Amino acid sequence: MTALFRPRLLVAADALAAAAMAAERAATTLREQRLLGLATGATMLPVYDELARRLAGEPIARDRVVGIALDEFVGLPAGHPASFTSYLDRAFRAPLRLRPEQVVVPDGVAADRAAVAAHHEAAIAAAGGIDLQLLGIGVNGHIGFNEPGSPFDSRTRDVALAKKTRRAQAEIFGSPEAVPAMAITVGIATILSARSLLMLVTGKSKAAALAQALEGAIGPHCPASALRLHADAVVICDAAAASVLQDRHAIERMTETC
Ligand code: F6R
Repeated sequence: MTALFRPRLLVAADALAAAAMAAERAATTLREQRLLGLATGATMLPVYDELARRLAGEPIARDRVVGIALDEFVGLPAGHPASFTSYLDRAFRAPLRLRPEQVVVPDGVAADRAAVAAHHEAAIAAAGGIDLQLLGIGVNGHIGFNEPGSPFDSRTRDVALAKKTRRAQAEIFGSPEAVPAMAITVGIATILSARSLLMLVTGKSKAAALAQALEGAIGPHCPASALRLHADAVVICDAAAASVLQDRHAIERMTETC
């Protein structure tokens, strides 16, 4: 597959500055009454902190869905402290004083998994489609929980988590074995149908995955490489995450200060 587009690459000095740049874009989306696609994970926590600070006291629509999550663990009740529902309650919904119905997270426990997946796609469509999709990246190049090998035409579905992903989640659950084996994730085609994509990448541990995504071959072996098929994608990273990129010239040209 050949790249159709080149994501804009903005390199901030450190992780907090990168998160602030991401938060500003997310705040603009919410101020304009548009729909945010929500990623979770450690990288996103400073974004949600900053978003809450920036939007403090500002009115946010009370009558519609404002955020739709990318993924959830399968088999974990929504109230479990390690569920993405709980994460988004703590980091996004409560600080912005949103009602539970305003943040849609796929159900991790309902028995009919195909119905849950269809329901999530329908929720995205009913809310008018995602305007800005926030994304992190896994050390193996995953986006959402689309692990390497995920087809680019995939939609919301249950997936098996890769060993590396379960290891990366081990701290929250106590051990890699305690991390659920399955998750539900929106698909790569669903992600690509968002109007804009924003991938935030911080830390040295993500440098190789970022280089693979932006400079390696495009294909399902690296789900994040799909960003190069989107006409409006921005990658915001810190200097550590950018450290393995070969195209230093591109970085300098595109570097913005915040
Ligand atoms: C979670 C998600 C994942 C994470 C990725 C990075 O909703 O979509 O793709 O963004 O696993 O996680 P952290 O930021 O914890 O390294």
